[in-house]
Amino acid sequence: MSRLAILFATAEMAPWVKTGGLGDVAAALPAALHRAGHDVRVLIPAYPAMLKAFPQATRLAEIPPLAPGLPAARLLASESDGLPLILLDCPALFDRPGNPYLDPLGHDWADNGIRFGLLSRVAALLGQGDSALDSALGSLPNSPLNPALDWRPDVVHLNDWQTALAPAWLQDRGCAASIVTVHNIAFQGNFGASHLHALGLPAHAWRFDGVEFHGQLSFLKAGLQLATLISTVSPTYAREIQDEAFGYGLAPLLRHRADALRGILNGVDNALWNPATDPALAAPYAANRLAAKRENKRALQSEMGLDAAVDRPLFGIISRLTEQKGLDLVLTLGEGITHLPAQLAILGSGDKTMEAGFRQLAERHPGQIAFKHGFDEALAHRIEAGADSFLMPSRFEPCGLNQMYSLRYGTPPIVRATGGLADTVVDVSAATLADKTANGFVIDEATPHALWLALERATRCWHDRKLWQGIQQNGMRRDFSWAHAAEQYIALYHDAIAAHH
Ligand code: ADP
Ligand code: GLC
Repeated sequence: MSRLAILFATAEMAPWVKTGGLGDVAAALPAALHRAGHDVRVLIPAYPAMLKAFPQATRLAEIPPLAPGLPAARLLASESDGLPLILLDCPALFDRPGNPYLDPLGHDWADNGIRFGLLSRVAALLGQGDSALDSALGSLPNSPLNPALDWRPDVVHLNDWQTALAPAWLQDRGCAASIVTVHNIAFQGNFGASHLHALGLPAHAWRFDGVEFHGQLSFLKAGLQLATLISTVSPTYAREIQDEAFGYGLAPLLRHRADALRGILNGVDNALWNPATDPALAAPYAANRLAAKRENKRALQSEMGLDAAVDRPLFGIISRLTEQKGLDLVLTLGEGITHLPAQLAILGSGDKTMEAGFRQLAERHPGQIAFKHGFDEALAHRIEAGADSFLMPSRFEPCGLNQMYSLRYGTPPIVRATGGLADTVVDVSAATLADKTANGFVIDEATPHALWLALERATRCWHDRKLWQGIQQNGMRRDFSWAHAAEQYIALYHDAIAAHH
């Protein structure tokens, strides 16, 4: 197959900037495309963490104000293991502490529409090619086009609302084809109508089949309407978001564009998530060396202040604490979990009421339930390795990475049958044990009762050592490598290029 030129635009990239799975995907997918021989370049804001990680970044271009509300910016070039990075440097918008979307008090930055409007605009500018770049950049004296920018991608791959406005500027045939990937349809980037002018969009873009959505300018709606093709991160979620219950108001549009919509399951970065080589673990292990997993349990119990119990399962949770993840069900069960009997280790942050709920639960049951507030990458690895089973009863889950990490780590997940959870976790039953596909526990309803039954079932299975080991090994042997997803994206890019022309 021919070598494609791909611009991958994202607001996060692990390990430098990550609030969730998008960061993991933006680190792994472009790298897999690069390994497959494609010319892929990643566009990401030059947050302080990126500038710190790439201090040698060189100047690519000065960008003058592209619209009444957009400040001047610069493009910097760097690379990570040979993968080219284009950093969008605009200190006025991106030189801020902490989370890319939230201020230190946990509120959305008031100018997110401008911040990610600029990111989308620049993604589009790169997709428009040399002549657009020449005329945009030509207005600056002494700023000839850097030869490294003498490049027009075949495809601009946009991820989530933060970059999804770009197709509004990529409608001409001379431009690159565009793909919008939905990682979570609940986040849409809807802003006041004044953004139309501020971001330099033409008045005629304000249409129900353009960027307008219920009187607002919607980044995601615009992308779903105007991108050449659309994808989301699992086949089941691709079906679900066409349904009112999951579509957050965008289901009718997605049904209308059903022919343009694909579901491609995310992968696992096997170099980062491999229990045999993971430097964060107390003891390495593998599917055929499972005994060492127990040492990780002991170490985790000690690290999190849990009793050194060996006669009961330890359930793990690593999550953004939000309604999406269904962890309120765990809170409703509360101490019930200690009666199984079992232990629970939770790492997460988010909703303040849920944080308080887990904190109190842990305080009431020291030794049995432990809660660590915050974001801690290394501890996340140790929970995956040290827990016996992982809890992820999400109400919706576009793909979910943690259940796949759990499968890799021999930590059978308990999940709800939705999105990528439904596509990766196979419920334990006589039939699935017989054909060696059983790898976890699946519930249909998001109710405390259903979760309770699954916890009981998992606890019973855990006590049967041989049965449990079989379930662990089924999960550990399943292949979730990114190379497979990358192949499907390449096919998607070729389809988009054909459809665009
Ligand atoms: P989502 O993107 O919806 O949050 P995913 O399962 O796709 O869910 O990805 C979440 C990613 O973020 C995983 O890599 C997970 O380990 C990580 N993560 C979530 N919360 C934390 C936390 N508190 N500490 C460390 N890693 C976390
Ligand atoms: C979103 C989704 C999650 C998915 C991740 C990466 O954050 O909530 O399910 O795995 O994006 O695609």
